[in-house]
Amino acid sequence: MRISVIGCGYLGAVHASAMAELGHEVVGIDVDDRRIAQLAAARPPFFEPGLPEILRSATATGRLRFSTDIADAAGAEVHFVAVGTPQAAGSHAADLSHVDAAFESLLPHLADGALVVGKSTVPVGTAARLAERIAEAAPHASLAWNPEFLREGYAVKDTLQPDRLVYGVGEGDEHAASVLDHVYRAAIEAGTPRIVTDYATAELVKVAANAFLATKISFINAMSEIADATGADVTALADAIGHDARIGRRFLNAGVGFGGGCLPKDIRAFTARAEELGRGESLAFLREVDAINLRQRQRVVDLAVDALGGSVHRKRVAVLGVSFKPESDDVRDSPALDVAVQLRGLGAEVVATDPQGVENARARHPQLEYTSSTREALRGADLVVLVTEWREYRALDPVETGRLVAERRIIDGRNVLDAAEWRAAGWQVHGLGRR
Ligand code: UGA
Repeated sequence: MRISVIGCGYLGAVHASAMAELGHEVVGIDVDDRRIAQLAAARPPFFEPGLPEILRSATATGRLRFSTDIADAAGAEVHFVAVGTPQAAGSHAADLSHVDAAFESLLPHLADGALVVGKSTVPVGTAARLAERIAEAAPHASLAWNPEFLREGYAVKDTLQPDRLVYGVGEGDEHAASVLDHVYRAAIEAGTPRIVTDYATAELVKVAANAFLATKISFINAMSEIADATGADVTALADAIGHDARIGRRFLNAGVGFGGGCLPKDIRAFTARAEELGRGESLAFLREVDAINLRQRQRVVDLAVDALGGSVHRKRVAVLGVSFKPESDDVRDSPALDVAVQLRGLGAEVVATDPQGVENARARHPQLEYTSSTREALRGADLVVLVTEWREYRALDPVETGRLVAERRIIDGRNVLDAAEWRAAGWQVHGLGRR
């Protein structure tokens, strides 16, 4: 099919490349000319395993092009809108200005029978409003809402082999569902479950899924607070309750908490939308989820202060990890980077490192000292704080690491180290909810 993807950020760049990989003819559009130039040269503007390969192969075949001119979207049968919906300045609500601008710019270019497909995460009610706008300005076109569930670090796989497909379509719009079936034929033939529903449900599926995941993480982090107060071990607790198939072990890892460009802003926007709907009470618990999450960052900072005898001032602290999770260079709302910044604010001599995130972190917080070398970060440290569980950090050898640092003290902010092994090598080990 002929497809356009409006917005070539994380979601759009991966989606455009994956659609071309599936054999469609794709044009990716973005207003950022630097980003478009990079993508057109088959250079991904961010770190995502697997993306360089499909971007290279799709651009080489000519099936994938990029442009800053929205007029190049004309002629496509399906237009995916994948622009960002960040948290609005000064409020918890989502900023829809990019979505609205993308729709308005696209309207004059919609061919007869074209299908516009929203992929951005939006407050419930947005699709119905945009469908009205299309009915008014381009009645020959229609709208579907097809939320995206990809995880950074696994984005290519999640797009090519999704665990479910959700289509929100207008009342009686069978055409939209059959067009999307065509787009996703490979996944459907592989047996991917597909749910066709109304706009509101499709919009809610996305935010409900992220709210559930955020709640699960904050639940186990709250348990880690109780574990700290009682001498219990939160990891053993998670293993035990995780064996109950109704609960499940995934997303039950206590630590410095969730961050990134999705979970934090999505739960806030969801709460804000519920309040607009007069149903603030229904989602009041998400405020608590947010508060528990932010408290985890403070707990790690407090642990650092305690570990250093009451003050981090002029102490050399090696912060391992700045990206919000491993396999990503994304530092948006990163708990790891936040901890580094707070420690620096308390007067510590912070040296932060990350296998991929250093450049993005430096752009946001140039006041920190960075190195891309783990050994360099560790050298002479009075305290090591592990806050992003990259494989490289999980695999650190306590004896060898002990030779680099000034003092054998470590905070395992992701509860991933074998504390007994580290203690045996002479380390003081501090975790969250771990004895
Ligand atoms: C999340 C969702 O998982 C995706 O399904 C969704 O499509 C995406 O948001 C989105 O809305 O676009 P992502 O932000 O890539 O994906 O990251 P996750 O893997 O969900 O991790 C989020 C955060 O939770 C990370 O900071 C991670 O370190 C933290 N986390 C995760 C924990 O603290 N504990 C856990 O047990 C799991």
